[in-house]
Amino acid sequence: MTRLIFLGPPGAGKGTQAQLLSKTCQVPHISTGDILRGAVAVQSELGKKAEFYMSAGELVPDDLILDLIRERLAESDAADGWLLDGFPRTIPQANFLETLLEEIKQPCDFVVNLEVPDEVLVARLLSRGREDDQEEVVKNRLVVYRDRTQPLIDFYRNRQKLVSVDGNQPMESVTNDLKALVQA
Ligand code: AP5
Repeated sequence: MTRLIFLGPPGAGKGTQAQLLSKTCQVPHISTGDILRGAVAVQSELGKKAEFYMSAGELVPDDLILDLIRERLAESDAADGWLLDGFPRTIPQANFLETLLEEIKQPCDFVVNLEVPDEVLVARLLSRGREDDQEEVVKNRLVVYRDRTQPLIDFYRNRQKLVSVDGNQPMESVTNDLKALVQA
């Protein structure tokens, strides 16, 4: 049973590593970014509301995200573990998750903070070319990360949950470090 939260700036490799580890650990990879992009693609009510924020590199308001996480963690495939990628992203989201995990008796094992220097992040994102990977939007995503998400590092450090991993290595090396952590 593995329950991990992936923290880290845009481009740190959260999605890449969570996807790989989900196969090793046989638990679902739950990415709020992927869920929101899926909603935008089908132009659901959620997608129509989220698109405006995502295209500007801003966070989608909590009222669109919190119920979505509550419902996703209640699905049967998440009963025996999960890897959360992109959630929580703000202190209110982290407080919400802490209460929810207590309610559903699913404590998180630890929080992986993937560390990568800014210049590497920008280069990775500009060469990927997702819709929100344009230079100005990437810059704003990094500002929003520093302002809203980085405080979660101390939030989880204070709860003795934080483990930092060097994300500025070849993908395979990062994966090996993560496997060593979950298998320890
Ligand atoms: P989200 O999809 O979560 O985007 P992000 O956090 O900006 O993360 P990225 O997907 O860009 O980076 P990543 O760390 O996953 O790296 P990846 O593995 O993809 O969110 C998008 C938007 O949705 C937000 O801006 C917001 O609007 C909204 N949103 C989502 N969650 C929300 C929430 N909880 N609250 C409010 N709003 C929310 O890798 C990036 C690239 O680098 C890839 O090309 C990859 O191949 C490459 N790469 C990865 N690892 C390596 C490596 N070790 N070496 C070389 N290249 C690598």
